[in-house]
Amino acid sequence: MSNRRLHPEQPSHFVFSPQNLAWAQDIITHYPAGKQAAAVIPLLWRAQEQEGWCTEPAIRAVADMLGMAYIRVYEIATFYTMFQLAPVGTLAHVQVCGTTPCLLRGADTLIEICKARIAGQAHELSADGKFSWEEVECLGSCANAPMVQIFKDTYEDLTPELLEKLLEAFAKGTQPKPGSQIGRTASCPKSGPTTLKELAKS
Ligand code: FES
Repeated sequence: MSNRRLHPEQPSHFVFSPQNLAWAQDIITHYPAGKQAAAVIPLLWRAQEQEGWCTEPAIRAVADMLGMAYIRVYEIATFYTMFQLAPVGTLAHVQVCGTTPCLLRGADTLIEICKARIAGQAHELSADGKFSWEEVECLGSCANAPMVQIFKDTYEDLTPELLEKLLEAFAKGTQPKPGSQIGRTASCPKSGPTTLKELAKS
């Protein structure tokens, strides 16, 4: 796991948009009195969606809203790779799983595509600022390795060619269908179900 630190350049402040503020205030009410801190991840995620990345002022604003110490929210934002601590590509930030099952299935070749098509180094923005990439630990789709996560969606069963197609689709401003990129349903066998078929008919 890489070191995850706040970006040295930060905006001066953060405020939720009126719509996001109303949403956040409603989310906080979903938790019992005294347990509002449980809303920290959804609020941080909404702040990131609004700003494009998870800024230090946003971390402090969320802490203030939930009555949490800044360090507690900082710990959460720096632990989970779902939170971006520096600006990322506006069209796609490609998180390539590099843990063993994905690596055995070719994650290194996906990283080579990212280096060639996006930027030579992880967390570096592409020349047009629209793409960035990084390697992360297991994202929970090991049965469909190798895979990447782009913002909130996962793209699975990838090959270098399929990843290139995905990047081209994002470059055109389209939203490719998440999940298996070879047509599997979840992690079902490629040729369809192989067990319990009699039960499915009854
Ligand atoms: S090892 Fe890649 S998703 Fe689990």
